[in-house]
Amino acid sequence: MPEPCPEEWGFDTRAVRAGSFRSDAGEHSESLYLTSSFVFEDAEEAARRFQNVERGMVYSRFTNPSVQMFESRLAALEGAEDCVATSSGMSAILAVCLGHLKAGDEILTTPSLFGATVQLFENYLAKFGVKTVYVPLTDPDAWARAITPQTRLIYLESPSNPLTEIADLAAIGEIARRAGVLSVVDNCFCTPALQQPLLYPIDLVLHSATKYIDGQGRVLGGAVAGPRHLVDPVRGVVRTCGPAMAPFNAWVLFKALETLSVRMEAHAARALALAQWLEAQPEVSRVFYPGLASHPQHALAMAQQKNGGAILSFELRAETPEAARAQAFDLINGVRVFSRTGNLGDTRSTITHPASTTHGRISEEARQRAGIQQGLIRLAVGLEDVADLRHDLEQGLRHRG
Ligand SMILES: Cc1ncc(COP(=O)(O)O)c(C=O)c1O
Repeated sequence: MPEPCPEEWGFDTRAVRAGSFRSDAGEHSESLYLTSSFVFEDAEEAARRFQNVERGMVYSRFTNPSVQMFESRLAALEGAEDCVATSSGMSAILAVCLGHLKAGDEILTTPSLFGATVQLFENYLAKFGVKTVYVPLTDPDAWARAITPQTRLIYLESPSNPLTEIADLAAIGEIARRAGVLSVVDNCFCTPALQQPLLYPIDLVLHSATKYIDGQGRVLGGAVAGPRHLVDPVRGVVRTCGPAMAPFNAWVLFKALETLSVRMEAHAARALALAQWLEAQPEVSRVFYPGLASHPQHALAMAQQKNGGAILSFELRAETPEAARAQAFDLINGVRVFSRTGNLGDTRSTITHPASTTHGRISEEARQRAGIQQGLIRLAVGLEDVADLRHDLEQGLRHRG
């Protein structure tokens, strides 16, 4: 099975080399282990493997070489002792909650979260006696004040979606540690190529690998990484409840990690160029991108992240919410290069109207609280030529009807 990677290897060497395992055939590119179970030499070996007293493969819900390669490479990139892969980002979040929470516990989080995560907390965990409390992402004092004896988990994303607010990971990590509360960061937007939350220290980092880790919109996947004693309860959930990563997906994601660093640099360079250009357009009242000097937390973002990342949003100038929505729809209907889709983390740039899609199912009041206006557009900038993306937005901004 994959050996631990040498301590002295840099990030890019880890991304290309860590977690690699070569079978007796001597393949250079890693094999795909498409099998549900594994055979044993004898009954004694089967007993030892089932009892966990001997390392080795048993059954692909909890042991598979392709999945283990992905887990150990991602652990090496996040600076984690251990990592467990899951079938999707949502199952990674669910597995953390099932592994670490019980009835009566509280989750302390923020409204600036992926919508399905809020629904998981409110519609499902609440049924089992887990309460969720919300504080503003960017105010560490509010996090400290909201901790109660029942708080068991601090949960956040940074940058947030779609307004790219930044959480102070060091301050919030320290608040959690002092209170003896588990801290968890969804690092889906940055990936370890731009930000490594475990350094702050945050206890667990999790991913929707579906996004930038894949980077080409092909497969679903998720992962949870951190110290072994905190990953173990999550691995137990995956083994018993079954949201395991498929070997094929693990193989795709393992290979995708090899280009993560160069892709994230290229995404961010294009995102910055577009953000700067958008700031100068008369139709645009405000641009939200952590790499811009005008971003309220630019300094914090640049201290925590290698660059501003690939996601930006902007607001269209309009007299009324109705006019803003109409202009946003005109722009979205006018583009030809950007894909009209809710997904992000792809080589293809995507354009979304959050108020009617990703945040369309929450109340108007909750949308206002989250700062999501009708004229807001989110871009997940891909890897096309920046001149083509700029031209596409330019003619979209002028498109009517
Ligand atoms: C920040 C964030 N976390 C988690 C998820 C859920 O991931 P998945 O779709 O892989 O279940 C998403 C999906 O869009 C996301 O954007």
